[in-house]
Amino acid sequence: MTSSLIPTLAGHYYTDPAIFAREQEAIFERMWFCAARGSDVGTPGAFRTVQVGRESVLITRAADGRARAFLNVCRHRGAQLCVEESGSVKRTFKCMYHAWAYGLDGKLVAAPNLVKMPDVDRVEYGLVNVHVREWLGYVWVCLADEPPSFEADVIGACVERLGDLGAIDRYDLPSLQVGRRIRYDVRANWKLIIENFMECYHCSTIHPELVHVLPEFAGGYAAQYYVGHGAEFGRDVEGFTVDGGAGVTTIGTIAPEQDRRYYAVTIKPQVFVNLVPDHVIFHRMYPLAADRTIVECDWLFLPEVVASGADLTNSVELFDRVNRQDFEACERCQPSMSSRAYARGGVLVPSEHHIGAFHQWVTDRLPPIRDK
Ligand code: FES
Ligand SMILES: [Fe+2]
Repeated sequence: MTSSLIPTLAGHYYTDPAIFAREQEAIFERMWFCAARGSDVGTPGAFRTVQVGRESVLITRAADGRARAFLNVCRHRGAQLCVEESGSVKRTFKCMYHAWAYGLDGKLVAAPNLVKMPDVDRVEYGLVNVHVREWLGYVWVCLADEPPSFEADVIGACVERLGDLGAIDRYDLPSLQVGRRIRYDVRANWKLIIENFMECYHCSTIHPELVHVLPEFAGGYAAQYYVGHGAEFGRDVEGFTVDGGAGVTTIGTIAPEQDRRYYAVTIKPQVFVNLVPDHVIFHRMYPLAADRTIVECDWLFLPEVVASGADLTNSVELFDRVNRQDFEACERCQPSMSSRAYARGGVLVPSEHHIGAFHQWVTDRLPPIRDK
């Protein structure tokens, strides 16, 4: 008889710094990485710094209104240019060490004695550019010299999950506003967080509020299991809120079949998008170490809802609780990844089988690893 169980990755995939380093190089530094909300760099000179793989990346907006990204490294002797996570400059980023100054387009524009040093070319010694795309109101960067297709990898992930691109376009993410942002410092490997997000076998155990709103989740099959499927709100449920009470104003452009439903999308390697009728919950993961991941989560609402000062507490609290419940479970698993009991990993039951494809995706991207 064939078994209905398939193996997970072995424990050391979640703990070994050498594997994490390979993931940084082969995944996070090669793929499109969702770095910041466009409004975080809303005006020329506003900036954010984020960790992408092993690099610190400086994201800003140039005078032409386009988002730009650079390695956050001074080309003179390597001082980190911006140490703050966010801020704004007027016209230049000035290095604290010898005062080389770079324009918002990355070009070297000033340095002490620059005119007397003709060998210092302003373009050649400009900041190192990183590829940038803006989509869904977010700034995506890619550290690869030749980025993979954004259409295939990022947009394609949404189409594959939702069935067509119009399904996400109708939520008009670029025009929504951040009503709330919460940052979680999770003591777990990034893959545990993805695996958790992909399955709903755990929903009935740890997510009572979510299962109340989406009763079909009690069955253990996540909305992500079927193409185009959105989980329907329970009959007595008015909105996607912590107690099932009414939410705020519905995003007017969604289709009738998207009303009273929850859709979830995973965009590998580090983004989760959750679509509900009156808001969008948008997660980015920033993996910092084999056992540590920062998760930044935005709750996006119609601009008029945010401007009205409406109380968003009940809407935000539902997924904030879900996040905390999920991350607690991931943190419960992380220490066991180095146990002898988990040396060969665990098992995936049928409602989790699609996680096997994620494991295959990860191992396909890494150079061959000798099993320990
Ligand atoms: S290291 Fe930046 S100006 Fe010298
Ligand atoms: Fe969960």
